[in-house]
Amino acid sequence: MNRRLYGTLPDGRPVHEYTLDNGRGLTLRAIEYGGIITELNVPDAKGQGANVILGFATLDDYVARNDPYFGALVGRYANRIANGRFTLDGEPYLLAQNDGPNSLHGGPRGFSRRLWTVDAANDTELRLSLVSEDGDEHFPGRLEVKVRYALTAEQAFVIDYEARADAPTPINLTHHNYFNLRGSGSALDHELTLACSRFLTTGPGLIPNGIAAVPGTPFDFRGPQRIGARICEGDAQLLAAHGYDHCFILDAADAQRPMPCATLRDPASGRTMDVLTTEPAVQFYSGNFLDGSLRGSGGQAYRQGDGVCLETQHYPDSPNHPEYPSTVLRPGETYKSTTVHRFRTT
Ligand code: GLA
Repeated sequence: MNRRLYGTLPDGRPVHEYTLDNGRGLTLRAIEYGGIITELNVPDAKGQGANVILGFATLDDYVARNDPYFGALVGRYANRIANGRFTLDGEPYLLAQNDGPNSLHGGPRGFSRRLWTVDAANDTELRLSLVSEDGDEHFPGRLEVKVRYALTAEQAFVIDYEARADAPTPINLTHHNYFNLRGSGSALDHELTLACSRFLTTGPGLIPNGIAAVPGTPFDFRGPQRIGARICEGDAQLLAAHGYDHCFILDAADAQRPMPCATLRDPASGRTMDVLTTEPAVQFYSGNFLDGSLRGSGGQAYRQGDGVCLETQHYPDSPNHPEYPSTVLRPGETYKSTTVHRFRTT
């Protein structure tokens, strides 16, 4: 395990970067700020490594410019809560709003913008924790969160999440890596497979407003499809989101056992990533808001589709939808979630 000073926050607190290495070509770098993964190096068939995630070169950039949430841990509630409002056990709550009237990714000071504590680290594992106080971004209850990043000998990068609260609260944790398995250029020519026959349609502000079946639509990724192949079709859902930015529902979900969710493959390098998760859904986001105004870690500008996100999670706006799987964590319960990213070459 390798630890170094990565930078200093505007308030003077130091931020360290940790390097994990599985000894088989898979390496990961992560910092305490936002739990951000700054680099994930994955070998191709010839053993040639490439950094497969988008990111910045400096801490200052992550602090000042990370509106895309590059590489970050996201919480207390990933994705959107309509108008920042919900009612829990009869109590109304109004959250910090940061996406028009909506609350996005936990609010303006969500977990992606906090300094996490490193509880333990070794060559293949990093354990992070964060205490989110009662009233944090107006969420109820004190929440203790633990996250573990691990690299396995089987070329997998695993994220385990755990949390406990002292009062009932909604919770939806995810990770916001943007993947580009070639390491540069566009990810729109990657092939994507999603084990999902249904997705949530969205209305204004990308708030879910229904469930649709994928057959016959550009949302059908049940077999491998080039991401860019149908992204410019005049489909109302694609037009409103400027591409894919939708929650897909797993056909087979199991909260106890990571289930197949997605496969992303770069035909040029052969790098292939299988995503398995205990979550019931995945937000597939094709990097639509990247407009060329941000300079990445390799000095390049990031444009639409240069990286794609597969954010495993519960459904957006669940606190306002009793018919969705519940996101409420109650005192005495333990929130647990696991997502596995398994790399191979094809
Ligand atoms: C998520 C959302 C997108 C966007 C990005 C961050 O993926 O669904 O709409 O907000 O985060 O830019």
